[in-house]
Amino acid sequence: MLMDNKRLPPGALKHSEMHEAERRFVSGLIEKFQPKNILELGVSAGGGSALILSAMERGATLTSIDVMEKWYKDPSFDVGFAVDREAFGVQWRLITGQEPSEVMDSLAGSFDFCVIDTYHVHPIESMNFLTALPYLSDGAVVVLHDVGVYCGHVTEGKSYFDSFPYAMFACKLLYDTVTAGKIEPPDYFDGNCFSNIGAFQITDDTKKYVRDVFSMLKFPWGIYPLKLAKIYACLARHYDKALMKMFEEAMTVNMSLLLNGGRDYDCAKTGDVFNVIRKNKEAMRERLNGFDHMCFYGGGAYARSLLDLFAMFALRLPGKIWAINHEAPRRIAGVPVTAPKFDALGRNDCLLITNSDPFIASNVQARVRTTENCFTLKEFGKLLENCAPGG
Ligand SMILES: C[S@@+](CC[C@H](N)C(=O)[O-])C[C@H]1O[C@@H](n2cnc3c(N)ncnc32)[C@H](O)[C@@H]1O
Repeated sequence: MLMDNKRLPPGALKHSEMHEAERRFVSGLIEKFQPKNILELGVSAGGGSALILSAMERGATLTSIDVMEKWYKDPSFDVGFAVDREAFGVQWRLITGQEPSEVMDSLAGSFDFCVIDTYHVHPIESMNFLTALPYLSDGAVVVLHDVGVYCGHVTEGKSYFDSFPYAMFACKLLYDTVTAGKIEPPDYFDGNCFSNIGAFQITDDTKKYVRDVFSMLKFPWGIYPLKLAKIYACLARHYDKALMKMFEEAMTVNMSLLLNGGRDYDCAKTGDVFNVIRKNKEAMRERLNGFDHMCFYGGGAYARSLLDLFAMFALRLPGKIWAINHEAPRRIAGVPVTAPKFDALGRNDCLLITNSDPFIASNVQARVRTTENCFTLKEFGKLLENCAPGG
């Protein structure tokens, strides 16, 4: 099954994020299964796309999707820049700047081969897979890259256990949870104790037992996915209510973790936040509308997640996001990002500190003198709970 891919252009080879044996595994699978319609999630420079394009048959099509528009290693390059389009002609459709859940429903047909190589932090790969599954034909082969990458991964300067939530075990979790015929490379060793790449073949049982993948989403997330509301909406179009209830439970557990800043997780104390908002959105809406202005401090992942959640429940969005990072975008989810202006806060304004670092949060709170409505994520969790009837 393994073969050398001699047609991979040197430019693409230079930017390939796979080892040679991994590339041979992918091109060998394409050689064996001869797929006609291939889906690739996670493109980067395009080394993987070029590999697939050079291995697939004439007449086959590759659709590649990346959530970013710019290359994550150097934003002066576009995602996919390393692919010589001339060399491969029209068989390649590249979609960038969109989460797969935003576009899958608009792609015609079903896919018989899929390569997932995206974020590696749970739950991203599992959500990518659940998004793609309704469009994968019976017998389709799914390749997961970096299943073993967590063996060598810790967040800079921290031990594995300190960086546990961020460790890159998303692909391994998915690979081991999904019910499918597993295909492993016979002789690949990358200094890890097991292979860093694997594939599985969709069978009737994959859809039948997909509840296991939904249930596994309840493991702590290392990242609260961007555009979660879009992912939720996309999955709700394809999976039944019981599965979507599991998805909501996963959101609940992880929203509670998030509002606790990942610390002293206590679901009973923080409440079932997602459901608290869902059941009491009217009261929440009234509470948030009662402030003259609302502002977020920090434009990172937590802010984005909350914006997603607020948008999902049609709650008031902040008028401004304060960020001290000069490279911050000018808008996040349509909300303007500006430098902090503590003196401008009025008595009835609300500032929500979306940065989870307690040191930063206490420094910010110390600078706020004009309003008592300055909340950390944890305090905000309490505020939400108190909006619940009887709270
Ligand atoms: C490891 S690189 C991909 C490498 C590529 N497959 C190769 O072999 O050259 C990961 C890419 O996934 C993208 N990504 C991250 N999260 C994603 C998501 N949810 N959906 C699609 N792409 C995502 C990143 O922007 C990045 O370009």
